[in-house]
Amino acid sequence: MTDSRAPAVPCQHSPAWALLRQAFDSHGRAFDLREAFRADPQRFERFGLQAPHVFADLSKNLIDAKVESLLFQLARERDVERLRDAMFAGEPINNTEHRAVKHWLLRTPRGASADADLVHVHETLDAMLAFAERVRADDAITDIVNIGIGGSDLGPQMAVAALDEFVLPGKRFHFVSNIDGHELASVLKQVNARGTLFLIASKTFTTIETMTNAHSARAWFEAQGGTDVARHFAALTTNVEAAREFGIATTFPFWDWVGGRYSVWSAIGLPAAVAIGADRFRQFLAGAHAMDEHFRTAPLEHNLPARLGVLDVWYRNFHGFTSRSIAPYHSALRRLPAYLQQLEMESNGKRVDREGRPLGVGTSPVLWGEPGTNGQHAYFQMLHQGTDVVPVEFISVKHAAHQLAGHHEQLLANALAQAQALMQGRRDAGGHKDFPGNRPSTFMVLERLDPAGLGALLALNEHRVFTSGAVWGIDSFDQWGVELGKVLAKDLVARMGNGDAEGLDPSTAGLLKHLR
Ligand code: F6P
Repeated sequence: MTDSRAPAVPCQHSPAWALLRQAFDSHGRAFDLREAFRADPQRFERFGLQAPHVFADLSKNLIDAKVESLLFQLARERDVERLRDAMFAGEPINNTEHRAVKHWLLRTPRGASADADLVHVHETLDAMLAFAERVRADDAITDIVNIGIGGSDLGPQMAVAALDEFVLPGKRFHFVSNIDGHELASVLKQVNARGTLFLIASKTFTTIETMTNAHSARAWFEAQGGTDVARHFAALTTNVEAAREFGIATTFPFWDWVGGRYSVWSAIGLPAAVAIGADRFRQFLAGAHAMDEHFRTAPLEHNLPARLGVLDVWYRNFHGFTSRSIAPYHSALRRLPAYLQQLEMESNGKRVDREGRPLGVGTSPVLWGEPGTNGQHAYFQMLHQGTDVVPVEFISVKHAAHQLAGHHEQLLANALAQAQALMQGRRDAGGHKDFPGNRPSTFMVLERLDPAGLGALLALNEHRVFTSGAVWGIDSFDQWGVELGKVLAKDLVARMGNGDAEGLDPSTAGLLKHLR
């Protein structure tokens, strides 16, 4: 078994780090993209890479071949490849929770891995997809309401929106996550008990938001005269026992080796499976599997997730950039930034390494964004002329799913123009009309926004987050940082009821008084 402890030496003390620091000081800080293109006519070819379903142009990034090779040296010194192999061998690399990390197994074809859990994965997948097909064929069910939060909401919600072209007409999909009753109440106004299937999605089946919404949904269902809970409620969870206690007979399980933010491939993907059907859900898994194989086998130099992961380290720790803007040029990808936010920030928003030692370097950037072209008319001003440099990630789709003349050419031209303007800038009369340029971006192209392409795009981002997390030596698969707020909320719920402010800090006590 591989030693999954973090390397004893912090990343900033590894030999490659010192060389990268030197490279940054000598030419990295002043690197100019326009000069780089002038000096190397092959730059686009050198920094473009076709991975399964995704082409990525990295040439408008502040790197050269020398820096990239040092970044690969750093990745090797940090044992990224060994940790990757340990993940794919099913070893417990989530060491703070003593768990294996096997979301990749959920998209592994039958017989393609010796892992003993693959049999259960396929049994469950077959059962879940058969259920999805029954729901699709059941005209009496018009509304599917997913109740879940975090990874039990963001993935399926994003995927159903992204794959809108393939969604079965006649079914409506709703996602309720917030404990704010306005959200559930608004959905309940739009549905009726006889035509609704509630999916209670929770890895733990203890999350307070989800349980509160699930109980309220069941109370509403019964108050509407609904009797057949078994037909109208299903659970997607690792905690099959708790689902049974809730009174749910139909449960699709998954396993503790699937992190919440990595769970769209599991039973948590059921809303998407109902939306697009069994065959297309299998294509979604196949697209991700193709990216897994690419990440697992390609040398770092030709490995897209690895190249992006080390670039993220270069930007975060050497250039000091603290955020990355996600710009999907496809309106159906409108929930992608939120999905990637959880993936990256919950995975790598850590301040200690896998042994609990303070890191001493920055980790997860802030991820944010909106679909283009909307973002252009909102915050792109800051990207072009603000004082902070924010790397932008353009995600474009070559073929549109609609027939409206002219729109798609304009959309793609705008994506290209923004990337071009960020890089080239413009010298004008000086002052407010000047664009400094030299602002980095990555440009991705999917042929179509289809299930396989989406699967590959998501797996690409999972493995890229893995790579930067491994360089930093952190456990990208735990999320202890969400615990404290949960404990304090429990205490404050009681205080909201009784008004007791004893022992609270003055600000919280004052606000409690205002809110009661
Ligand atoms: O916010 C913490 C978290 O545990 C996420 O990691 C997870 O996706 C979410 O809560 C929901 O958890 P569950 O699926 O167990 O309800």
